[in-house]
Amino acid sequence: MQNLERKIKKNFQGIYKACGNKFYLSCGSYLIDGQNYKYDKRMLKKQNLLYHLAKENSKILEIGVYMGHSILIMLTSNPKLKITGLDIDKRFAPKAINYLKKTFTDSKLNLILGDSLKNLKKINTDYDLYHIDGDHRPIKIYKEILACIELHKKKKIKILFDDVEMMKDVEKLLFSSFEIKRSIKPKCIFRNLYVEIELNEKSIKKFKRSFFFLLLKHFIISLAPFYVKKFCRLILKIFLGEKICKIIGSFLSKKTKSNNLQKLGRKLENI
Ligand SMILES: C[S@@+](CC[C@H](N)C(=O)[O-])C[C@H]1O[C@@H](n2cnc3c(N)ncnc32)[C@H](O)[C@@H]1O
Repeated sequence: MQNLERKIKKNFQGIYKACGNKFYLSCGSYLIDGQNYKYDKRMLKKQNLLYHLAKENSKILEIGVYMGHSILIMLTSNPKLKITGLDIDKRFAPKAINYLKKTFTDSKLNLILGDSLKNLKKINTDYDLYHIDGDHRPIKIYKEILACIELHKKKKIKILFDDVEMMKDVEKLLFSSFEIKRSIKPKCIFRNLYVEIELNEKSIKKFKRSFFFLLLKHFIISLAPFYVKKFCRLILKIFLGEKICKIIGSFLSKKTKSNNLQKLGRKLENI
């Protein structure tokens, strides 16, 4: 597997050309860090995991196609794969998929454009492996997991998540709600996580319930700054009084040069 770079090299450049020699700055993939269009070997361990999973499975659903780099790894490993890709962005995925279709003629690739959750509802077949690598917000990932579970017909579901550091809360919920039969988390940057989950009604309910509390936690945290500010204002009013606050505020906003102090001054003036 040291040769992965060599194996994908030609098609990695082919995709770039097919995409008009452009990539979306700051959007990373399994092969690039999002800053340069250059193969990133720091992700070799997670690339390897994807490569091996592609050998063990034949029908895969991928949420988040972008330039088709993860699909390129999978097809390099198993050129006969059937892959359905979902992506909301029309700029890169269609061009990349067209290129891959022409290159891997034994494969069966299908791209569905639009929001993952809307389109997952329309799919009425299940897959051997689900690769979740789209919108990385935890709430979205949680909903995507439930949507994949919904369309999956078997008692065990295999999911690969990318960039798992961005979904720590959801990862904890997965492990506390379900029986995880197998899990792999390679040690590298932007690591991915592979899980084989035993499905039953009780665990799914537990997952849904725990997520409700997670949402509540996020809601309270999002409100916290508002109440902290309110509390600080109250303390200042009690201990300094409104008049002194306004005098200090006027001094800070007019006599200081620092933008932050001027901003604080304006806030004190309007306390
Ligand atoms: C990190 S990139 C995927 C990288 C790709 N799997 C790879 O390694 O080559 C994330 C992709 O998810 C797509 N995406 C973001 N939100 C989405 C949504 N709600 N539904 C479908 N795709 C979405 C973005 O357009 C982007 O192309």
